[in-house]
Amino acid sequence: MALRTIDLHVSVGDKEILHGINIEIHPGELRVIMGPNGSGKTSLAMALMGHSSYKVTKGRIILDGEDITSLPPHERALRGLFLVFQNPVEIPGVRLEEILKLSIKKRLGGKECPDIRERIESEAKMIGLTKEHLERGVNVGFSGGEKKRGEILQAKILRPKYVIMDEPDSGLDVDGIRIVADVIKELVSTGRSVLLITHYPRVLEYVEPDHVYVLYKGRIVAEGGMELVERINREGFKWIEESREEKKD
Ligand SMILES: Nc1ncnc2c1ncn2[C@@H]1O[C@H](COP(=O)(O)OP(=O)(O)O)[C@@H](O)[C@H]1O
Ligand SMILES: [Mg+2]
Repeated sequence: MALRTIDLHVSVGDKEILHGINIEIHPGELRVIMGPNGSGKTSLAMALMGHSSYKVTKGRIILDGEDITSLPPHERALRGLFLVFQNPVEIPGVRLEEILKLSIKKRLGGKECPDIRERIESEAKMIGLTKEHLERGVNVGFSGGEKKRGEILQAKILRPKYVIMDEPDSGLDVDGIRIVADVIKELVSTGRSVLLITHYPRVLEYVEPDHVYVLYKGRIVAEGGMELVERINREGFKWIEESREEKKD
C-alpha cells in the first residue's frame, strides 16, 4: 500500500515543470515536500490529483499498486486521494454542509446518520467555523483563513486514505496552524497518509514528519528527516543552490 511516483515528468503547456520526480508515501505517514516559490510544488499536487492542465509527459503515478496516471480526478478521489488546495475556489450554489453530509453518508456505506447536523456543526466548531459558514456556498465570501479551515474540515470529516495538503498553513494564524497540526495527527494516527507541501512549515513545530523531500527547480535535490527542515528554517533555500554549484565544479 502506497502512493508513489516513478520518474514523473509534468508539463504545463509546452513548458516542462517537473523533471523526473520519485516520491512515495505509506499508510500512517506524514511526508513533507519543501521547496522555494516556483519550484513546482503546486504542479506536483495538481498532477497527482489529475488536473488536466498539468500533463504527465513521462513516468507514472501508482496508487496502492494501480497505475492511475491517466485516470480523471474523480476516479482518483474515489480511490482515496484528496487535495487540500493552496488557493481554494468558490463554489456558489453548493453548500459546505451538503458536501460534508454526503461525505459522512458515503463513509457510513450509504446509511443515514441521525445526528449528522450536530456532528458536522461540532466538527466545524473545532476547526473554527460556524453554522453560518456551513450554510453558505463553499468558500463564498470566506476569508483566506476560513477557506483553509473549510478544506481542512473536509479532510477531517472525509478521512481520505491519502491527503495532499498544498500549503495548508499559509494565511493561517497560530490557532489555525495548531488545528492543521491536530488534523494531521488525527489522520496519521488512523492510518491515513498526509503529504504536506510547503515552503515554510510552521505546522512542523507541532508534528514531526517521517520523511522530508526538498524540491528545487522541478527536481528532488535532497531528502532526509527533521534536520532538513531545521536547516531550511535557519538558512532558507540558498544552500541548495550553492551545494549544487559545488557538485558541478
Ligand atoms: N497554470 C500554469 N501556467 C503557466 N505556468 C505555470 C502554471 N502553473 C505553474 N506554472 C509555472 O510552473 C512553475 C512552478 O509553479 P508552482 O508549481 O506553482 O510552484 P510552487 O507551488 O512551488 O510555488 C512556475 O515557474 C510557474 O510559473
Ligand atoms: Mg504552490
